[in-house]
Amino acid sequence: MSLRVATIGRNGQVARALASCAADAPDLTLIQASSAEADLRDSDSLARFIDAAAPHIVINAGAYNNLDRAETDRDVAFAINAEGPRALARICAAREIGFVHMSTDCVFDGTKDGAYSEIDAPNPLSVYGHSKHAGEIAVLEHNPAALTVRVCWVFSEFGENFVSRMISLARTRQDLRVVDDQSGPPTYAPDIATGLLAIARRKHAAPADLCGLLHFAAPGRIDRASMAQAIMDESRRQGGPFTHISPVSSVAFGAPARRPANACMSSDIATRQLRLAWTPWDAALEQSVRGILARG
Ligand SMILES: NC(=O)c1ccc[n+]([C@@H]2O[C@H](COP(=O)([O-])OP(=O)(O)OC[C@H]3O[C@@H](n4cnc5c(N)ncnc54)[C@H](OP(=O)(O)O)[C@@H]3O)[C@@H](O)[C@H]2O)c1
Repeated sequence: MSLRVATIGRNGQVARALASCAADAPDLTLIQASSAEADLRDSDSLARFIDAAAPHIVINAGAYNNLDRAETDRDVAFAINAEGPRALARICAAREIGFVHMSTDCVFDGTKDGAYSEIDAPNPLSVYGHSKHAGEIAVLEHNPAALTVRVCWVFSEFGENFVSRMISLARTRQDLRVVDDQSGPPTYAPDIATGLLAIARRKHAAPADLCGLLHFAAPGRIDRASMAQAIMDESRRQGGPFTHISPVSSVAFGAPARRPANACMSSDIATRQLRLAWTPWDAALEQSVRGILARG
């Protein structure tokens, strides 16, 4: 029988990468709901979607991801990032459906020297980080068999992300200020999607496998301004827009939400347990820029 995987979220970056990845997996049926079909603020809509989809596994790829807006939109951020996952955890536990939730490096304060592991203590700096941390706790509380996968600095040719935003801004700006005191591991969304589907297969075969927390992050590390420069160089190489990048400090940039200075997470456990392969940064960037430029 085909493995049925349902996702909360259809148009987001990871949801689209999952759709692309699942298209190459004939043994798997993917059923996706947009926020209009299954709203994380409305537990009845979540239950209705899950009952109609009849999945073996639910992946929550939906979230309130606007860090800066969350600072003044706390209630909505918590409703989507904490109460929605709580409802999903309960719904899946009651129906004995495997549940995979997604979270973020922003649960950490970024003061660690090396990469964060799954046992490091969260200490969020922003409303977004607090709301995602509250979601992690709620999922653990209501569904101990669930797995929360933390990801960070996700980019690809799908949806909107740092690469698409830099290319879009380069079309109209002579100069772009980008922070150089935040660094992290740019991680290619299709690699995350491949890992999430590997988890779905494992949890379908053995529901008690892979519970709790897992980090998915590529092994590299770069600061935001250097990443922006690499995006401009690649876009220029492919005949796309490019502009001048001016590195600035986070304080000078003045974003409303604080971000971790160090967003690196170690995926040693996930890489070993799921035999994950991380696409090299330059190949993933080339593919992402190509796809984004093709979108026009
Ligand atoms: N992108 C990153 O760099 C990054 C970093 C750290 C963690 N994450 C986490 O990774 C996961 C996937 O993120 P992403 O980058 O794919 O997100 P994204 O591209 O920003 O897309 C957001 C997704 O959330 C859905 N959504 C928004 N409000 C919703 C609501 N009220 N009810 C149901 N769904 C709702 C959207 O639904 P529609 O399909 O209707 O648009 C969309 O599919 C999230 O948990 C996010 O916090 C991402």
